[in-house]
This record gives sequence, C-alpha cells and structure tokens, in this order.
Amino acid sequence: MASRLQEIIESLDRDDLRVLRTIEKLMSRHEYVPLDIIERRSRIPGGRLWKILWRLSDLKLVRRQAGPVTGYTLTYLGLDVIALSSLMGRGVISRVGERIGVGKEGDVYLVELAGGEVAAAKLHREGRTSFSKIRRLRSPAAMVDRKQWFRIAKLLGEREFKVLVRLHERGAWVPEPIAWDRHCVVQEYREGVELYRVREMSLEEAYSLLEGVLTTLRIAYLDVGIVHGDLSEYNVIYEGDGRGVVIDWPQYVYKEEENADELLERDVAYIVGFMRRRYGLQVDPGEALAYVKGARASPPRPG
Ligand SMILES: Nc1ncnc2c1ncn2[C@@H]1O[C@H](COP(=O)(O)OP(=O)(O)O)[C@@H](O)[C@H]1O
Ligand SMILES: [Mg+2]
Repeated sequence: MASRLQEIIESLDRDDLRVLRTIEKLMSRHEYVPLDIIERRSRIPGGRLWKILWRLSDLKLVRRQAGPVTGYTLTYLGLDVIALSSLMGRGVISRVGERIGVGKEGDVYLVELAGGEVAAAKLHREGRTSFSKIRRLRSPAAMVDRKQWFRIAKLLGEREFKVLVRLHERGAWVPEPIAWDRHCVVQEYREGVELYRVREMSLEEAYSLLEGVLTTLRIAYLDVGIVHGDLSEYNVIYEGDGRGVVIDWPQYVYKEEENADELLERDVAYIVGFMRRRYGLQVDPGEALAYVKGARASPPRPG
C-alpha cells in the first residue's frame, strides 16, 4: 500500500511542484510570499495558480495568510515533498514508505531506492522544540521565524550527511549515507531496535557493543575531529549479536570547541554507565575515555 506521502507526491504535477519550489525560493525573503510575487515568478496565470494553491493548501503543503496581502508559506510537509520529489527526480529513490521514527528533531521514513533496496530518509525538523540541540546555529529570531527554521533544517541535513560520509569511510559504526537533498538525509536502513528497548543482553554481547561504540567515538574524535554530543540509548540501534550503529550526529561539535571535552566525557560516562546499570557490564569510564581520546591503544577490558 502506498504511504500518504507517496500518494501526495504522485498526485502532484509539474506545475504544482513549480509553485512549491517558487514559494520555497522566495521564502529566503518573505515568511509569507505575496500571491502576486508567486504569480510573477512562477509564470502561471492567476486563475490556474489560484486553483493550484487551493489544492496545495488542501493537502497542507502550503499555508495561506489572509489579510491586506494574501500570502503563502511552505509547511514542513511541503518542504518534505519538495526534497523527496527532488530525490526521485535525481534517480535516488523511487518510493516513499511509512514513517518509522519520530524524534525530537526529525521524522524518519522508509524509502525504496531506485535499485529496489530499502533505505531510511531522515527529514530534519528545526523549530519543533524550542530547545534545540543546535543552539549555536541559531539566532534568537530563529525561534519564531519559519524561514529561519527551514534554513537551519537544511543546514542540519548537510551537516549530518557530510559527517556520516567521513565517519563511514573510516569504518565507524554508523549507517552508510546515500544522498542528501535540502533537509533530507537518505541513509542505509539499519534494522534493529533502539538500545533503550533492549532489556537483556549477555555480558559478551554487551562488551562487544560497547567496544564498537567506543571505537566509533574514537574514530570520530581522532580521525574526524568531532564529538557526538548526544550519545544515549536512544541514539544507538542494536542489531543483535553485539553489533549496532550510532545514529543522530548533526549536533556534533569540533574537538577544538570549548565544551567539546566536557561533552565527550559526558557521552562516554553516560554510555558506560548505561551498559553497567542495564546489563551489568563493568568497564572503567576513565579508561574508556582514555581509549576514545587515543591515550591508550586498546579498549578497556571489563573488570
Ligand atoms: N539509519 C536508520 N536505520 C533505521 N532506523 C533509523 C535510522 N535512523 C533513524 N532511525 C529511527 O528513527 C529514529 C529517529 O532518528 P534520529 O536520527 O535519532 O532523529 P532525532 O534527531 O529525531 O532523534 C531513531 O530512534 C530510529 O528509530
Ligand atoms: Mg535521536
């Protein structure tokens, strides 16, 4: 069965998409783009444009502001449709499936790649919560202004894609990045469960997982020069057999930044502590940190 998003995308013709992209572009200047400007830029005559905008509002891809000047703004759904149909046009994906994850800062959908394989598409959402993981990228005005949210969401997509490329090519346990368009990052789908849902694990499996996660943090720190900054049982997918991946990287900080060491220490202490509390795995957090920072060559053995 086709997902709702797939149905919406299939129902749009070229002019519909043209209107959406026109509004998207003009939103760098207007939060609500005046109708006459949309008409001028899209070159779609008034009567026809009006019908298109009516349908797009009905589908909740745009929102209308009535008043002295009628204007339209894109919704996140509208931006999703633009990015996903662009990925289709580029021959990256062929279909959009169901939503598999709703995070604080992103919605994740299953997608089918042009070759038929399944992948995950993360659509960044800035502005969903007022306390973003990425405070550094925003100004106070960004809290209220949709056009700023979109700009930041796109920046987060770019950041996440590019950092996944660097981590993945160095052998870190992360999903393989496939493509990026605007605020959407297409990545390898890793079937598993978030670690917070895994009630039991043997000590051997727990150690293997922790070793992989610590090695991933070490690659990030020593080879890529970054700290994840939001490591928890919600951002590790466990695939069984002591294997998994660390996801959700866009809030990373560079290791030269002033709070980087503190964040790294927190990430390491947190995951080591979680593995101890939940699965009884005893590993010294100081030794784990020394391994991640390159001060020791091998991961600490359980005590
Ligand atoms: N590559 C992936 N493979 C499988 N599931 C994923 C993948 N990336 C994300 N998910 C699912 O989507 C959820 C939200 O993704 P995440 O990157 O953590 O976004 P958020 O910033 O919203 O927390 C995850 O908890 C996980 O269930
Ligand atoms: Mg997350």
